[in-house]
Amino acid sequence: MTEVKRQYEAYPYPERDPADEAKRLITGSPSDPLEMDHVIWGGMRDWTRPLRALFAGGGTGDGMVQLAQRLTDAGAPYEIVYLDLSEASRAVAEARVAARGLTGVTFHTGSLLDAAEYGTFDYIDCCGVLHHLPDPATGFAALRQALAEGGGLGFMVYAPHGRSGVYPLQEAFGALFEGLSPSQKLAQARAVFARLPEAHPFKRNTVVVDHQQSDAGFYDLLLHSQDRAFSVTDLVEVMGQTGWDLAGFAQPAAYDPSRYAAVPEGMDAVARMALAEQLAGTMKVHVGYARAAGASAPKTGPMGGMAKANMARVPHLRGVPRDKLARAVAAGKALPVKSGGETIPLRLPKGAAALLAGVDGRRDLAMLAKGARLDPVAFGGIWAQVDRALCGWGLMHYSNLGRR
Ligand SMILES: C[S@@+](CC[C@H](N)C(=O)[O-])C[C@H]1O[C@@H](n2cnc3c(N)ncnc32)[C@H](O)[C@@H]1O
Repeated sequence: MTEVKRQYEAYPYPERDPADEAKRLITGSPSDPLEMDHVIWGGMRDWTRPLRALFAGGGTGDGMVQLAQRLTDAGAPYEIVYLDLSEASRAVAEARVAARGLTGVTFHTGSLLDAAEYGTFDYIDCCGVLHHLPDPATGFAALRQALAEGGGLGFMVYAPHGRSGVYPLQEAFGALFEGLSPSQKLAQARAVFARLPEAHPFKRNTVVVDHQQSDAGFYDLLLHSQDRAFSVTDLVEVMGQTGWDLAGFAQPAAYDPSRYAAVPEGMDAVARMALAEQLAGTMKVHVGYARAAGASAPKTGPMGGMAKANMARVPHLRGVPRDKLARAVAAGKALPVKSGGETIPLRLPKGAAALLAGVDGRRDLAMLAKGARLDPVAFGGIWAQVDRALCGWGLMHYSNLGRR
């Protein structure tokens, strides 16, 4: 058994109790279907067509349960394949699916390097896994082999700067505890950790918190035997080598360096994002979506202006109730957005309040403009600001999912 499998058999990650499914649904990125549609398909996916999805390294099931539940609630047909090395993780994921009475999921124990053996997929989730492979590039390539035409990948990989202090500790614990069982490693590492100086870069790092949350979290963060981080540049490079194009990050505004500095003209898009990562210094993960290299990007989007297809998109707010948002905007108040340890105040024009009050996940942009009695020019000017601010921070997505 490899050390990685031994870890996830002993400490399935993240630590979850299937009984909690009765109380709450864990939501997040990637694999929120509205966000997937927004970034991969420009908000125009036809959800009456069944979605075939793979969860590669599905763990204890967070992303998979979210997608299956949300599609079930929306009445959208799907077929999900769950694949993971760890039998203990699979048992938790299966129990969560059973607790919710979800159907349409098949479970397999195996390696994502064999993903293509399970067919091709419209969507592949690989969250927090590729950075744990001995050679991540072979993982990216294996997933590419399993992608259906027009499909997309939702990923999360570790980022270096926000994990400051993690890697020296992983190395030190690796040298100290070689050959011990997972539970012995955990007990001894906790004892050593308590004696580290308060000025240790890890103890000063306020953005990583996994070690405080559970044994599985402590182990995953500080005792992992195989773990590397990807800068934006590394990520784009490995994608380029393995047949992927970056479609976009879940919070594209976080990758805009002009938030911090005047950026030299002519800098290309990847260099700009890399600069933002260096300046922020707190990104601990990169969460986003990719599509097959050379596949055409959706035609809809901010540049599409008032074109009919663009105006047929249905906006959805995420995590902000529309009435509350509309009231705050009408009162000229900023919306505080938390990201990477900072709070960013978003300001929207007061004229956006009436439009935002109408964003119910059913009305498209044409209906919103008509409802607010705005002429196309006035609507376009206001909506461009709403789109930039809210989509930039992952607070709004376009999708036809759930539209009746
Ligand atoms: C950090 S957990 C992430 C779990 C889940 N994707 C999530 O985000 O909640 C990593 C998972 O990847 C699995 N894993 C690691 N290497 C794998 C491989 N080569 N093939 C399949 N699963 C793998 C582990 O067993 C573990 O369940």
